[in-house]
Amino acid sequence: LLVDKGNYRHFMAKEIHEQPEVIAHTIAHYADLAERRVDIPNLAVDLASLERVTLCGCGTAFYAGLVAKYWFEQYARLPVEIDVASEFRYREAPLPENGLAIFISQSGETADTLAGLRYCREQRQHIASIVNVQHSSIARESDVVLPTLAGPEIGVASTKAFTCQLAVLACLAIAAGKARGHIDDALEHELVGALVELPRLISRVLREEQGFADIAHQLSHAQDMLYLGRGVNYPLALEGALKLKEISYIHAEGFAAGELKHGAIALIDENVPVVVIAPPGRTHEKTMSNMQEVAARGGKIVLLTGESGGAPDCEVMADCRLPDVHEFVSPILYALPVQLLAYHTAVWRGTDVDQPRNLAKSVTVE
Ligand code: G6P
Repeated sequence: LLVDKGNYRHFMAKEIHEQPEVIAHTIAHYADLAERRVDIPNLAVDLASLERVTLCGCGTAFYAGLVAKYWFEQYARLPVEIDVASEFRYREAPLPENGLAIFISQSGETADTLAGLRYCREQRQHIASIVNVQHSSIARESDVVLPTLAGPEIGVASTKAFTCQLAVLACLAIAAGKARGHIDDALEHELVGALVELPRLISRVLREEQGFADIAHQLSHAQDMLYLGRGVNYPLALEGALKLKEISYIHAEGFAAGELKHGAIALIDENVPVVVIAPPGRTHEKTMSNMQEVAARGGKIVLLTGESGGAPDCEVMADCRLPDVHEFVSPILYALPVQLLAYHTAVWRGTDVDQPRNLAKSVTVE
């Protein structure tokens, strides 16, 4: 299969820009867009009676699962057990009888994820996988395969596969919420409607790319960076830090915004940029006050928030406004600025964006 960069400088840039199209494609596969209803394949388990679900993956795929934990628990009242595959495979976790385990992997070949799957098979779990490469080991060993329709992803740092994984998991969470009696027709309509809106909103963010490239120029001189997020966007803070580390080699850590005061706030000074992921929603005000704590200690803030929010109460280096979006799908939209900041920071630093040192696209050894 021959894939080229088209007019883009890197595969990663091309893959970032493909997101409106591939997310639309993926959502259309799991939902009836006209009716605004989810339409997922039969998972061979009764979602209504599940005690809990196990999620497992590595790297970016693990963070997609972490977002889904918030979705399954809030919208479907379905408890979620989640771990990175390298830990899960050796933990001897007790699993519920007739449980469901979902494995998330772009390549479908990650050795630890496959080993976690085999453990769940031994424990007689139903196995579903969310994979981008449909002819892969993980797909082959699953009872049900839920493909992401992202198309080939070449850049080592995952972008479009991540947002497509989130799109599939969002549809699954809605389906689970319906089956368990926590999502009625009106709410389903609202949540699927929010998904349907996404490709257009993502295109709007992409049109602001130059603004993110300008901010990235300032970030490119940093030695350390922090990312803060809360709730369903806490995993985005982790993903933001991972993306930046992977391709720019700047040290970065993601934190739950409310946890910062328990240690990491000691790191803040005027040399540490802090990306604050604060979409409008339930925890917005809390995150904004965590941001003020950082600003009061001299941290250089890059605020990512919604268009309609008020002006920040503290000095910020950059105040980035994204289209207003339903809180449910905010992690998918906010993935875009996080990717663009990492990408352009790496470009300014002149690293090998598509083939960062020491990393492999797919880790098939333990
Ligand atoms: C590698 C890649 C990451 C990816 C992880 C999991 O570390 O560099 O980008 O998130 O593997 O890969 P998978 O193919 O299982 O999603």
